[in-house]
Amino acid sequence: MKINSNYLNLKDNYLFADVAKKSSEFAEKNPTVKVINLGIGDVTLPLCPEVVKAMQYAVLEMGKKETFKGYGPYQGYDFLRSEIKNYYARRNVELDLDEIFVSDGAKSDVSNILDVFSKENSVMVPDPVYPVYVDTNVMDGRKIQYINANEENDFLPLPDKSIHSDIIYLCSPNNPTGAVYNYKQLKQWVDYALDNKAIILFDSAYEAFISDDSLPRSIFEIEGANKCAIEFCSFSKTAGFTGVRCGYTIVPTELTFEGNSINNLWFRRQSTKFNGVSYVVQRGAAAVFSSEGMNQVKENINYYKENAKLIAKVLTERKIYFVGGKNSPYIWFKCPDGITSWEFFDFLLEKAYVIGTPGSGFGKNGESFFRLTSFGERTDILNAAGRLKNVL
Ligand code: MLT
Repeated sequence: MKINSNYLNLKDNYLFADVAKKSSEFAEKNPTVKVINLGIGDVTLPLCPEVVKAMQYAVLEMGKKETFKGYGPYQGYDFLRSEIKNYYARRNVELDLDEIFVSDGAKSDVSNILDVFSKENSVMVPDPVYPVYVDTNVMDGRKIQYINANEENDFLPLPDKSIHSDIIYLCSPNNPTGAVYNYKQLKQWVDYALDNKAIILFDSAYEAFISDDSLPRSIFEIEGANKCAIEFCSFSKTAGFTGVRCGYTIVPTELTFEGNSINNLWFRRQSTKFNGVSYVVQRGAAAVFSSEGMNQVKENINYYKENAKLIAKVLTERKIYFVGGKNSPYIWFKCPDGITSWEFFDFLLEKAYVIGTPGSGFGKNGESFFRLTSFGERTDILNAAGRLKNVL
């Protein structure tokens, strides 16, 4: 029996596990201190009333013989996929129901999709990047090439035509930087993918934070993307589903490689390895798209965006370079005095009792940068902003 030795090439710990360990060590040593956690991007506001109502009703249905449900459809219930289809139609993106796959979240699908691609493919990821894209490819032993995201390109790298890659990861609004691609920039990526017969894996988990209508929320708003892209989205950040678990993946029927439909391969993979998301959760997710549901989740998103403004104000006042925080829940800023990200992590924890995420955990270009999330409660954010102001 042999293990998958690619696992030995991974870093010892998943980034957020490292942050959690350091934070709990500090809390143990300093039991009277109130530490504010703006590290992992986890929501703090509860589910909105429309979602709760729909889930409660669904639970009652499950408790009655006439309305009880067993296994659901592999791709998700039509009632939810129709809502997703209509949501995209509002941005003039026409989808077929067959192109929509309901899942338990973007993180799972962005990893699982690799099942349908050869391990011989080369992979391109921006640096800094959400560590899941890198780690899942290391697990499979794929060759990874990095493209630099940095201050010069405002953390929005564009394709380098001299480098070929088969699988490209893009995330916009970006995790960790909060930077957002515009139409022209995304078009360059789509053209590059088409020229290279490559596929773009587009993570749009933070699309609901875009309030600037001139920015694309979906890669499928770009012409040609249905021939070269898959999109992953989630209710986690949009509607507070981090603990509930629901997301969706769009695999266009026009997407073919070597004469094979990726949509068919993905259906084959999902129907073999996944039994779907629970009926109750899918009812809750569908309620997000009702007009009341939309208003309620928007209210929550605006609350987080107001939080982001409060943090951004401190950085502006202190003349610290940052991106994000406008169309994104993440604020990505330069550590003062050129200190490393982990040094700044310790400094902020010890002097301000605030936890953030060290930029270097997202890649070498993240060194000397730091990420704060705006998902905290308002009083915590106000306190964190005050403490940040004092120590910066
Ligand atoms: C993050 O903090 O980057 C996210 O919460 C991670 C995730 O969504 O899995």
